[in-house]
Amino acid sequence: MHEIINQHRSIRQFSAKRIDKEILDKILYAGSRASTTGNMQVYSMIVTQDEDLKEKLWQAHFKQDMVKQATAIITFCADFNRFNKWCNQRKAVPGYDNFLSFFTAAIDALLAAQNVALAAEAYKLGICYLGTTTYMADSIIEMLSLPKYVVPVTTLAIGHPAENPGLTDRLPLEAIVHTETYQDYSPEDIDRLYAEKESLELTRQLLAENNKETLAQVFTDNRYTKKDNVAFSNSLLKVLEKQGFMNQ
Ligand SMILES: Cc1cc2nc3c(=O)[nH]c(=O)nc-3n(C[C@H](O)[C@H](O)[C@H](O)COP(=O)(O)O)c2cc1C
Repeated sequence: MHEIINQHRSIRQFSAKRIDKEILDKILYAGSRASTTGNMQVYSMIVTQDEDLKEKLWQAHFKQDMVKQATAIITFCADFNRFNKWCNQRKAVPGYDNFLSFFTAAIDALLAAQNVALAAEAYKLGICYLGTTTYMADSIIEMLSLPKYVVPVTTLAIGHPAENPGLTDRLPLEAIVHTETYQDYSPEDIDRLYAEKESLELTRQLLAENNKETLAQVFTDNRYTKKDNVAFSNSLLKVLEKQGFMNQ
């Protein structure tokens, strides 16, 4: 288990070999065994293997090629639709049309997704998360016919790997672990904790490619800009409203 977790790398190139149906079922079952709020399982996993649908999803996911290449695209959704229906059919009045319920269901969906990811990697399949899911939730809702109370929160591209990339760096453990209470970071701590990342060859390349002075600027000015964050926040809030989660 430790080896699988510690050897994780995102895979972005896949062979055309399809995932064995039995293995796919086992991976999805592993998803269903994740911890889930109140054992409600307020999430759904939508497995897309149809080429036409994958082509549509590829458009939504900013045309990232792995979406076409990976033989299975699994969209993990916060889903109170099924649970609400059950309540209504059992003389129970659901109170799940609010932001907290969306957040609860999103946590459930993410826990299932990470179980699926690890199970897939245990079968030597490659995975990559797609953050474009939340940016393009509105289009994905239409493509996958998601009803009210269902919102896509993340996606995994899964398939047989056609590349073998090295491990990516991580901050040292002391950067992310706090003992007993939160120990805020001094400027010296920040310098020390980011020193290794900043000295990588990859960082040097990124600075040159993006014509930036610091790695942080690559994030703020190019990858995750305020302008995009505000625009995608607004569209996601509209999606939550439309899908029935903002009635508090
Ligand atoms: C929520 C989430 C969204 C991500 N979205 C994308 C994506 O849209 N495209 C991509 O190529 N990688 C995506 N990734 C993969 C990250 O870039 C990757 O996990 C990170 O760079 C660390 O590399 P590693 O997974 O190989 O260790 C995403 C990862 C997460 C957790």
